[in-house]
Amino acid sequence: MRRVLVTGGAGFIGSHFARHLLCTYPDYRVTVLDALTYAGSLSNIADLMSDPRFAFYHGDVRDPVVVRNLVRNHDWVVNFAAETHVDRSILNPGSFLQTDVYGVYVLLEACREFGSRRFLQVSTDEVYGEVLEGFATEEAPLRPRSPYSASKASAELLVQAYHTTYGLDTVITRGSNTYGPNQYPEKMIPLFITNALEDRPLPLYGDGSQVRDWIYVEDHCVAIDTVLHHGESGGVYNIGAGNLLKNREVAEKIVEILGKSVSLIQSVADRPGHDRRYAVDTSRLRQMRWSPRWRFEDGLRHTVEWYRSHSEWWKEIKSKKEYQQFASQWYHGRAPVTPGQEE
Ligand code: TYD
Repeated sequence: MRRVLVTGGAGFIGSHFARHLLCTYPDYRVTVLDALTYAGSLSNIADLMSDPRFAFYHGDVRDPVVVRNLVRNHDWVVNFAAETHVDRSILNPGSFLQTDVYGVYVLLEACREFGSRRFLQVSTDEVYGEVLEGFATEEAPLRPRSPYSASKASAELLVQAYHTTYGLDTVITRGSNTYGPNQYPEKMIPLFITNALEDRPLPLYGDGSQVRDWIYVEDHCVAIDTVLHHGESGGVYNIGAGNLLKNREVAEKIVEILGKSVSLIQSVADRPGHDRRYAVDTSRLRQMRWSPRWRFEDGLRHTVEWYRSHSEWWKEIKSKKEYQQFASQWYHGRAPVTPGQEE
């Protein structure tokens, strides 16, 4: 039996990962610790609640009492707890430092206190900053450019320091842009799907030619599982599916699947410091016999179908004051611009 603590497990990737562990390993016990901030929801893990191998704990990774009590009773810690939305980090960097950096420190301290527990830090390919050409290997320098990616890079450095200084058994994954069911509808894919379903504009930043490498959430979870079980202590692993697409292409695929007009896609003023391209070299992970199972077109169709058939899930979120406040603060004044006329 293995006891795994999944922090941030009521969020998007974390909830899929908790489910993946329970489905894949009958003798594992999984505890989710989640602060249930705006992006986490018990509805993401409702199906797990009745499983006797599963437990949910409402709490914050910044709380050392809560964290110590949980870490001491678990073999492994997988940390998904984070503020993740770049746009929000531009408006309010402080909460990113609090959760994404200080929260990791609290978790690491508990792991240090209770000995040889494996700690997996879920990080992001955004720590490399923009990769204008080629593919970043794990040895590439960290050049984060947004408050979000700077927080995640800072956390990675702390994790590495705990490995080097205290011999903590750590691994780090740097995942690429992830999509799938249950993703909070502020990220591009679920925002565009739900806006299109409501016949509202899809706000494409700048000229829409920025490139992201899209990975389906289940593939991302299997990759994290692979690193958790087989990763070398102190190791860092890129995760990506090699689906390098321009944002405009993704938007066009979404309206096409939904049978909506491309005129819904509207260019708006760009995000400050917008990274133009992310691309990671995943040879290290592939040597561990991982490969993605989902083609982008299939994953996107599946995701669109999920949002179509779960409108109560996202409509409730979009009707909340918190969501509307952020949306109006961020998008208000981001007037449509004609492509080619951006700064
Ligand atoms: P996002 O899902 O926020 O992830 P990240 O910024 O971490 O890559 O955005 C993905 C891409 O989509 C990114 O290049 C920004 C762009 N984007 C838009 O063009 N419009 C939007 O409204 C959002 C949220 C994102």
